[in-house]
Amino acid sequence: MHDIQQMLEEKRAKARLGGGEKRIAAQHAKGKLTARERLELLFDEGTFEEWDMFVEHRCVDFGMADNKIPGDGVVIGYGMINGRLAFAYSQDFTVFGGALSETHAEKICKIMDQAMKVGAPVIGLNDSGGARIQEGVASLGGYADVFQKNVMASGVVPQISMIMGPCAGGAVYSPSMTDFIFMVKDSSYMFVTGPEVVKTVTHEEVTAEELGGALTHTTKSGVADLAFENDVEALLMLRRFFNYLPLNNREKPPVRPSGDAPERLDYSLDTLVPDNANKPYDIKELIVKVVDDGDFFELQPDYAANIVIGFGRMEGQTVGVVANNPLVLAGCLDIKSSIKAARFVRFCDAFNIPVITFVDVPGFMPGTSQEYGGIIKHGAKLLYAYAECTVPKVTVITRKAYGGAYDVMASKHLRGDVNFAWPNAEIAVMGAKGAVEIIFREDKGDPAKLAAREAEYKARFANPFVAGARGFIDDVIQPHETRKRICRSLKMLKDKKLENPWRKHGNIPL
Ligand code: HXC
Repeated sequence: MHDIQQMLEEKRAKARLGGGEKRIAAQHAKGKLTARERLELLFDEGTFEEWDMFVEHRCVDFGMADNKIPGDGVVIGYGMINGRLAFAYSQDFTVFGGALSETHAEKICKIMDQAMKVGAPVIGLNDSGGARIQEGVASLGGYADVFQKNVMASGVVPQISMIMGPCAGGAVYSPSMTDFIFMVKDSSYMFVTGPEVVKTVTHEEVTAEELGGALTHTTKSGVADLAFENDVEALLMLRRFFNYLPLNNREKPPVRPSGDAPERLDYSLDTLVPDNANKPYDIKELIVKVVDDGDFFELQPDYAANIVIGFGRMEGQTVGVVANNPLVLAGCLDIKSSIKAARFVRFCDAFNIPVITFVDVPGFMPGTSQEYGGIIKHGAKLLYAYAECTVPKVTVITRKAYGGAYDVMASKHLRGDVNFAWPNAEIAVMGAKGAVEIIFREDKGDPAKLAAREAEYKARFANPFVAGARGFIDDVIQPHETRKRICRSLKMLKDKKLENPWRKHGNIPL
């Protein structure tokens, strides 16, 4: 018996060593942790249960029959993150460069199946040279199997990808179908074709970092949600992020009690919006002052910053926040911001997270670049997302809500549950100046007359009471009581039930 136990420990030790000391040292030299070190940081101490440590590949080509490393380049299992269950796979770059073989893919699929059965999130720590070149099509099949699982798990359990090394070729499509993508600065990259292929095909000279580094994907492409300085920061932030998420689509969002009183008033909000309607202000100031303890986890802060998205808590309960930011492009909706917010709203809706929307939007961005880029279709994504969304929706118009953008931003007409406006809100087809220039074109040569018309239009429409008279706004509230009114609304909406008609699936404008 003792010998068998000894043998087991030896086998385990060999598996834990992955590709060996030399490759581990090389991994460390690049500033990267190993697959197992990452899992140790991600999960609560001593809670990670590893599966399939002894799995080996079945490839016999190119000398691979004699080149087997137990575990085959990926560590899978489950454990607790701040006491809550999560499944994870962590690719081991020290084993064949973390390349994906048929068996490596089977391990990932196994953990995803189990996560779906018990209803817990899947976290992928990606660090891989892509398809296992020695295996050819078997590896491609493995990728496709993972893609299929990603799609089946979408909207059932949250899926999070942390890119911690190379992620290239078709391999990028698994993370791209997960709900959130985080990256580590300087050591991770994602692209469909690398710099060499780019040079051959388009004659562009570009480095891997420029083409698909963390900065590129968090500022230019919007593929990634956040970039972190190093592996340790990334994994600690992932633990924090995890706290906001429900474990699956049948769960309510988690509640984390806070000492921040739901009835707390904040008088500084009364002066947040400048008197001059054309002056910008930072909507994040409002968000931070409204959510519990000023704790707001923003996603994609450096991409399409004219809209702000992220998670906070109200009376301990996770909420998704969407807010136009007048500080960037005057808070206009454009292609990028519509897509950014639409995907976020759909995540919240899939996972029972109430959506709080702060509106200060002068409309959709005009111009040929937007029209040629398909703003009609992309703007419709946000409209569609809000309209199909059945979770509690609380909306606060802080200043402008003009034109189609008024409709889109969780208006009453799109089944907004509670729609508030601040007293200075302007809910209209457009700003007063633009409006009188169109309807009183004949007064164009008479500035005094035009100014009088503008004042008249402003007095008539640039306020929240016309919408209030129709019930499109449930109440006009004082800015300082915003938190209190939202908390009360969410409490009232706690057991909200609303279902969309049966269908196979809708057809969101893609
Ligand atoms: C098998 C691989 C591998 C791969 C790396 N290795 N990539 N083994 N299949 N795809 C092995 C190397 O042989 C080496 O083994 C070890 O991993 C580390 O690789 P290095 O090159 O020494 O590391 P580094 O210099 O850091 O470079 C990393 C790399 C490079 C940039 C990822 O290895 C690379 O370019 N690999 C090939 C990438 C690629 O073309 N993959 C296929 C893409 S197509 P030893 O034994 O020396 O330690 C694809 C299609 C997916 O993925 C389609 C899905 C639908």
